[in-house]
Amino acid sequence: MIQHDVVIVGAGLAGMRCALEVCKDMDVGVLTKVYPSRSHSGAAQGGIAASLGNVESDSWEEHMYDTIKGGDFLNDQDAVEEYVKAAPNVIYELEHMGCIFSRTADGKIAQRSFGGHSKPRACFSADRTGHAILHALHEQLMKNSKSVKIYNEWYMHSLIVEDGRCNGVVVSNIQTGEVEVIQAKAVVFATGGYGRVYNITSNAFAGTADGGMAAFEAGIPLEDTEFVQFHPSGLYRQGILFSEAARGEGGYLLNGKGERFMEKYAPSRMELAPRDIVARAEQSEINAGRGVDGKDIIHLDLRHLGKDRIMERLPQIRQLGIDFIGVDCITDCLPIQPTAHYSMGGIPTDKYSHVILDEQGTRLNGFFAAGECACVSVHGGNRLGTNSLLDAVVFGERAGKSVLDYALNIDYADVNEGQEKARVLKKIEDVFQRDGSECYEDIRNEMKKIMMSHCGVFRDEEKLKVCIDTLKDLQERYKKGKVTDKGKLFNTEIYEIIELGNMLSMAQVIAFAALHRQESRGGHFRTDFPKRDDEKFLHHSMVYGSPDGMIVKKKPVVITKHQPAERTY
Ligand code: FUM
Repeated sequence: MIQHDVVIVGAGLAGMRCALEVCKDMDVGVLTKVYPSRSHSGAAQGGIAASLGNVESDSWEEHMYDTIKGGDFLNDQDAVEEYVKAAPNVIYELEHMGCIFSRTADGKIAQRSFGGHSKPRACFSADRTGHAILHALHEQLMKNSKSVKIYNEWYMHSLIVEDGRCNGVVVSNIQTGEVEVIQAKAVVFATGGYGRVYNITSNAFAGTADGGMAAFEAGIPLEDTEFVQFHPSGLYRQGILFSEAARGEGGYLLNGKGERFMEKYAPSRMELAPRDIVARAEQSEINAGRGVDGKDIIHLDLRHLGKDRIMERLPQIRQLGIDFIGVDCITDCLPIQPTAHYSMGGIPTDKYSHVILDEQGTRLNGFFAAGECACVSVHGGNRLGTNSLLDAVVFGERAGKSVLDYALNIDYADVNEGQEKARVLKKIEDVFQRDGSECYEDIRNEMKKIMMSHCGVFRDEEKLKVCIDTLKDLQERYKKGKVTDKGKLFNTEIYEIIELGNMLSMAQVIAFAALHRQESRGGHFRTDFPKRDDEKFLHHSMVYGSPDGMIVKKKPVVITKHQPAERTY
């Protein structure tokens, strides 16, 4: 049995920032199914928010209000306040760690505009901000390699929970196929989101809900999963992100008639309205037959920005356009559509990153979560762009501090290694033994398509019911699939099948929560209930598993400074 004081699952921004904190006093194992530098945090392009006021005067109060209004008043405001207050120091700390930020002419950290932010507060490294921070944190971790061991290409199957305490995880070494138990005094999940349940997504292949589902299977509810963010500028058909920074730098959105249609939907903010509003506007234009060439395409027009600005501020998206579709945004418009980008919901935590078990906030001892897999909830019903890198770093650090508080003075609990291993080995063996007629690839594609068409930007009761029935049917078919690679070594097929199982379960949780929220708020828009309904739905939803199926309960929203108000832009 492997033993670490603390095990962190996930090596993106939240996981690595947490590890840097914990390794000051304890020994840490960091597990990633890819490599740290391949984590999905690296795909965040446009910036990280902080009210530095380097370009225009700004304050944490304004950052707080923008975040709450952007989240359609579902955010827990006590957590938001602490988070935005922490932001400026986070930026300076990252800078001191070696993160290279773009600069103003007088040498300050540059800041650009982003959707829903009333001031330019996105600190950035051209359009590779996540990448720059990821590498800075990875370098810091390597400096601390005496107390941190990184397990590259290891897969986490399940949590070990006994007597109300979390004592480790069961994992596989993907290279050898060996199943191992990691015993720990505390476990932190920083496992990212689940955008891969959708057909069009900006998420890396790793975003398959492994963390959320391991928690759910251990009896933890999932919070606000109906709130999935669609980013307005995903590459047509492929979903790859073209940063909102393109609009922050002044880019236009055009429909098939060449009109800047945002004038109709958010006249005061235009292309820089929050993402839920822009994505719905795009989809409305497409549905009304005003997509480019009659297809589900919107144009992102950057030509007027000029070559110099594009090369300085947006070099990556220019290259992505050239590499993936042969379009150079200096001379031509980029074809885009809404793409599943971010999960506002996830594993419920309190503002100290402790995972909670119920609406009363009861903690599960020894279990913490941070970053996209967690729901604190600072983003409410819709996250503002650049607030996720901040979330990952702020709550990664917090999780680290909370883990130290919890774990420094306790002993390991007993773990029944044989029993824990046997459970996972049986699950894997069951998959190997299947010799059915179903093709996993077909099941995966059908899941992604039904989620996109029936539980996407626009939803209604009828569609959601069809979606849930289809997912149940797919789950039955999943049990009759066939594994073609029966080997043990580097058998990626087996992990893809397990991931698909996780995604099918997560998709059902999303659709179930969406069916129950009979209102429209943030990223969740019901065409049959198009208005926000604070009387009935100003609460977080908590979906629990039960022997009779899923149930949903209500968790109160923490409101401190800002009462819900009409949300117009
Ligand atoms: O558009 C972007 O650059 C994405 C940033 C984010 O999701 O925060």
